[in-house]
Amino acid sequence: MKTIISVAGARPNFMKVAPLHTAFQKYADTFRHLIVHTGQHYDPTMSKVFFDDLDLPQPDYYLGVGSGSHAQQTAKVMVEFEKVVEQQRPHLVVVVGDVNSTVACSLVSAKMGVPVAHVEAGLRSFDRTMPEELNRLLTDALADYLFVSEPSGVHNLKREGVDEKKIFLVGNVMIDSLISHREKAKQSTILHDLELTPLGYALVTLHRPSNVDIKEGLEKILTIFERLTARTTIVFPVHPRTKKMFSRYTMEKRVDSIKHLKLLEPLGYLDFLHLMEHAQLVLTDSGGIQEETTYFGIPCLTMRENTERPITVEVGTNHICGLDADGIVRKSFEVLDGTAKNGSIPELWDGKASERIANILFQQLHD
Ligand code: UD1
Repeated sequence: MKTIISVAGARPNFMKVAPLHTAFQKYADTFRHLIVHTGQHYDPTMSKVFFDDLDLPQPDYYLGVGSGSHAQQTAKVMVEFEKVVEQQRPHLVVVVGDVNSTVACSLVSAKMGVPVAHVEAGLRSFDRTMPEELNRLLTDALADYLFVSEPSGVHNLKREGVDEKKIFLVGNVMIDSLISHREKAKQSTILHDLELTPLGYALVTLHRPSNVDIKEGLEKILTIFERLTARTTIVFPVHPRTKKMFSRYTMEKRVDSIKHLKLLEPLGYLDFLHLMEHAQLVLTDSGGIQEETTYFGIPCLTMRENTERPITVEVGTNHICGLDADGIVRKSFEVLDGTAKNGSIPELWDGKASERIANILFQQLHD
């Protein structure tokens, strides 16, 4: 029996670990699969609801690290995860995505001689001011198996000198989750509850420090909201970081005064999928949402200067809009006028990426 530990820490990790867990069950005679939740995200709306919606079993370990500076958070995860690796002596640690928990657990594992598999390897924004870019670079440098979701990732890793034998283009595990939960998400009552009609609203998520941690960024966001709500309703589930910043800069009054802006607590996975599938357009600074909207064929305006997921622009429905309020409003109106580009679904985003990963690991780890 080979013990595999998969690590989940923050909201965008849970929908990546869930399909891997299912795929590993096919090899239950060979693989003993454990889930470690670092507790980087801990609010029920950022964590528990995802375990429920995704039918993920309770984690085998909950490390309870919580929030802190980057160094504090990363160090706490390392100290706590080292104890788990010491106790379990796994044959492999699987990390997903690019959050602080990803790099922390990769470093602990590599130093303890435990092979690391990185799911969503090779993505690069080429912007080292993004904490996630540093997490991606370091995790890929430590990983023994690099599972890649789009061709740019393979190209980036080869250019960085990674041995080709370690690189596997397998597709997108987050799209596995989307496909397997799409039917269930149709039962969500969220549109009805919010008195929305399909294609009658724009869905917004914003939480990047580069957008929300500075007052000018938040002011720009509110200007966009004020202008866009002249033409459509905005639905905005507010990330805890963003909520904190609106309060720090005492902007709640201005937020509350915007008509046709529906502010919500962070949503569960199924409600959010349902809202995304029926939106007129999505405005975001998230990584994963750029991919999910491409799969759904919904226009996505990304409020960032770059993307580590270029296939969503080349093949999909994503537009990189930067942080310019005029440009974003103009592009939003183009979408509302029906002149946005159509996209298609990238190759291998077919719901089977996790199966491919489990098959490869079975071949690689099987004696
Ligand atoms: C983290 C990831 C980011 C990912 C995002 C998705 C890193 C470096 N960043 O950013 O890549 O896109 O998750 O959500 O790993 N907070 C709560 N409740 C929670 C979690 C956080 O209130 O359950 C608040 C805390 O005040 C905390 C702040 O949100 O200080 C930020 O949390 P943190 O985990 O540091 O980063 P995110 O912005 O969530």
